[in-house]
Amino acid sequence: MKSIQIAIDGPASSGKSTVAKIIAKQFGYTYLDTGAMYRAATYLALQHQVEQEDSSAIVALLDQFPISFGRNEKGEQLVFVGDVDITHAIRENQVTNNVSWVSALAPIREKLVDLQRKIAAQGGIVMDGRDIGTVVLPEAELKIFLIASVEERALRRFKENKEKGIPTDLECLKEEIALRDHKDSTRVVSPLKAADDAITFDTTGVSIEGVVAFISKKAKEILDK
Ligand code: DC
Repeated sequence: MKSIQIAIDGPASSGKSTVAKIIAKQFGYTYLDTGAMYRAATYLALQHQVEQEDSSAIVALLDQFPISFGRNEKGEQLVFVGDVDITHAIRENQVTNNVSWVSALAPIREKLVDLQRKIAAQGGIVMDGRDIGTVVLPEAELKIFLIASVEERALRRFKENKEKGIPTDLECLKEEIALRDHKDSTRVVSPLKAADDAITFDTTGVSIEGVVAFISKKAKEILDK
């Protein structure tokens, strides 16, 4: 059966992972959260007190403790480095606030992009991140670039954190999101930007179901061609 690659990019908390997971399930494709991979590298860097910019130390850690994914009994995705489950640890503020410098290091990106392409080569995939349409899968049949206002994204993250029991301040979240947007979009290597052939979709005020329906329709149109 024909399968396609779906790239979903966009800034922090634009709803990428929520919709990407649902789309992957609908189409029976693999879902890959590339942000979780950069967070895993950041977790390793912090755990091992790597000096900022020391990319070779982080690459060595990634070799020693490879990133892998699993599932719990509820079907939720788990993230591991070596055999340590870091699913929750990578969402903590300390990782979130350090991920920009780790993900700006070219050797880290090279290593993770290589891994992302290997996973994509196995079949139908929905991959979310910042550079999927531009760098990782430039040949993807469907490229979506999701955006939303800083206020709405901060509120989404605030609610998510509350559910996970992570204490956060809304104003602080707004500032962090705006700062991360700035760092992600202005970094030299693979900055956050829509591919020329991506469809940009503003999710401000749009429900998850609305975004899913839009992407799903586009994917079906391509598959039916
Ligand atoms: O999607 P997220 O917030 O979990 O991503 C965490 C960070 O990882 C984000 O600030 C930028 C970085 N990232 C990246 O540089 N490239 C990707 N493909 C995915 C994430």
